[in-house]
Amino acid sequence: MTSLSYGILIAFEGIDGSGKTTQIYKVAEYLRGLSYPVTVTHEPNPNSPFSQLIQQRVKKQRENVTPEQELDWYTEDRRWDLENNILPALARNELVLVDRYYMSSAAYQGALEVFTLNYVLEKNSFAKRPDLWIILDVPVKLGQARLKMRDKHNDDQLEKAEYQKKVLVNYQQLSKMDIGGQVIWIDASIEEAQLTQVLGKTIIEFLKEFVKS
Ligand code: TYD
Repeated sequence: MTSLSYGILIAFEGIDGSGKTTQIYKVAEYLRGLSYPVTVTHEPNPNSPFSQLIQQRVKKQRENVTPEQELDWYTEDRRWDLENNILPALARNELVLVDRYYMSSAAYQGALEVFTLNYVLEKNSFAKRPDLWIILDVPVKLGQARLKMRDKHNDDQLEKAEYQKKVLVNYQQLSKMDIGGQVIWIDASIEEAQLTQVLGKTIIEFLKEFVKS
């Protein structure tokens, strides 16, 4: 087993249809094959008490839910994920790959145009800063095409093109701000297997200084 000097937290981000979830599993498998201790977790987390509220009240229709409530659910879901998944795995000196983190709250809830990005970041100041952010970069058009292939009758409120355009602008804005941790953009419009290779190599390069020999 490859040993790390500390637990390392890497957050994967990107608009819907950027391929994050597929890639995070593939990269985790690739790194485990090289004997890195890897834990993968997702936000919103399907096991948290908040994810059902998010699924029903936010994603399908944004009715009877205030922007503040929506932001709170994602924030509380994150607190739950940190306590139950992220912090215990980091304490075991593992590499933790999180599929969306507080940059998503800033980019998505920021796109409601009610909160400033700084307000959302401030609300998430309890969350451990990641060592690295990887943003999977695809144009909104390609993201939308990929979502359509996955699900023909998509009524997800968060995935609409106009909203996604705002989310992408927010990601670009956030990359210029001090959000804690280094940010890398990776072209995710390339072929799937090739992208896994690029991501794997990027992470191994990043981990070099933390690997115990
Ligand atoms: P999820 O069910 O994990 O993904 P998918 O629909 O791709 O299977 O939902 C993720 C959605 O939640 C995605 O549209 C982004 C959104 N989101 C926020 O709006 N704020 C947040 O803080 C997080 C973590 C996600």
